[in-house]
Amino acid sequence: MFDELTIDAAEYAARREQFMAKIGHGTAIFRSAPMAVMHKDVEYPFRQESTFYYFTGFNEPDAVAVFAPHHDQHQYILFVQPRDKEKETWTGYRVGVEGAQERYGADIAYSITELEDKLPQYLQDADRIYYHLGRDRDFNDKILQLWQRFLQQYPKRGQGPMAMEDPSPIVFGMRSIKSDAEIAMMRQAANIAAEAHIHAQNIAQPGMYEYQVQADMEQIFRRHGALGPAYPSIVASGENACILHYVENQRQMQAGDLLLIDAGCSYGYYNSDITRTFPISGEFTPEQKAIYDIVLDAQQAAFEQVQPGNAYNLHHDAAVQVIVSGLVDLGLLVGDVDELIEQEKYKPFFMHRTGHWLGLDVHDVGLYKYGDDSWQTLQPNQVLTVEPGIYISPHIELAEDQPEVSDRFRGIGVRIEDDVLVTPEGHEILTAAVPK
Ligand code: GLY
Ligand code: MN
Ligand code: MN
Repeated sequence: MFDELTIDAAEYAARREQFMAKIGHGTAIFRSAPMAVMHKDVEYPFRQESTFYYFTGFNEPDAVAVFAPHHDQHQYILFVQPRDKEKETWTGYRVGVEGAQERYGADIAYSITELEDKLPQYLQDADRIYYHLGRDRDFNDKILQLWQRFLQQYPKRGQGPMAMEDPSPIVFGMRSIKSDAEIAMMRQAANIAAEAHIHAQNIAQPGMYEYQVQADMEQIFRRHGALGPAYPSIVASGENACILHYVENQRQMQAGDLLLIDAGCSYGYYNSDITRTFPISGEFTPEQKAIYDIVLDAQQAAFEQVQPGNAYNLHHDAAVQVIVSGLVDLGLLVGDVDELIEQEKYKPFFMHRTGHWLGLDVHDVGLYKYGDDSWQTLQPNQVLTVEPGIYISPHIELAEDQPEVSDRFRGIGVRIEDDVLVTPEGHEILTAAVPK
């Protein structure tokens, strides 16, 4: 069994303090996620917006958090759904205005219905508004109109928020460096998903359906206290493995197939993201083995570049180098390795990058580049995935000067993906427990 882990109230308070120290005389507004509709009047299970959760730990929809470090009375303000006994009978418990103050540390809380009345007092003395324009245009409009009112009043007041600024640079900087408690949560998400992958490797056999493997894995996620899959689980046998986001998982698996499983779980909203590819009947064909070995070597070469101080592109470039050399050795590509890379002729085989930041979002926030030419350098306590792959779709089309791909290779798709923590000394593979 896994211990229950959480992020404690003091850490949320410390995050807010750190953020407020950076916005000086500004006021920041963060909005919760909305409820999403599955169909008609049925809603999806609620999933909080990650940055909102990062600063508040508050897990309800229809909420707004405001940070006003310069305000004389309230620096942390929450607007939440009020308690409503009748509604709660249907939708479940709400923390309410009192709970938002008592349990979530807000200096003051209001009903979300009071947003338009109460928000201006926290903006009027700010020099700028920190707000990220989100997908909800109506809410964006509400904030923009409020701002516009202050701009119109400027001649008479001679003060007020003259600028609007996206908080992302500050938020990315904070969220991308994980605390010890966050790393513990991610380790837990990694360990639970690792158990599910090991189980899948033990049970998968010809004649089973992809969804049966999926179901077993997801019950392991849930049984160990994960909220569920971090993203729709991909259980892709045979040529389905060549479809990067195959999520139908309906096929009956055949002897001789490879099975690519890309599945991770969300533990307290912190995610794992693991891919393994293995032969369902226990043995690779020579072609499958040749492709698998290249991807495995590419991953190893990439790991070696995951070191603090290294530019973010180095591990991808290392993986590409190994993949292209390997494809040339197999005769699947013809030409000079560096030229093939330069001209991107490998892309029909390997069309995605070698990974992404990982955290509260599966494709987590964080910068990859500063401008066109300068990559972010890796820092201790960042977490990223390393996931090279080779996909030889039955319909693969190479550049004109390249050979026809032999049928023996068509339909083979291999990806291997691990979650890697950057440490002061180098890196730690959080998902190393899953066999390759
Ligand atoms: N499973 C999503 C990804 O690997 O990026
Ligand atoms: Mn990934
Ligand atoms: Mn993945």
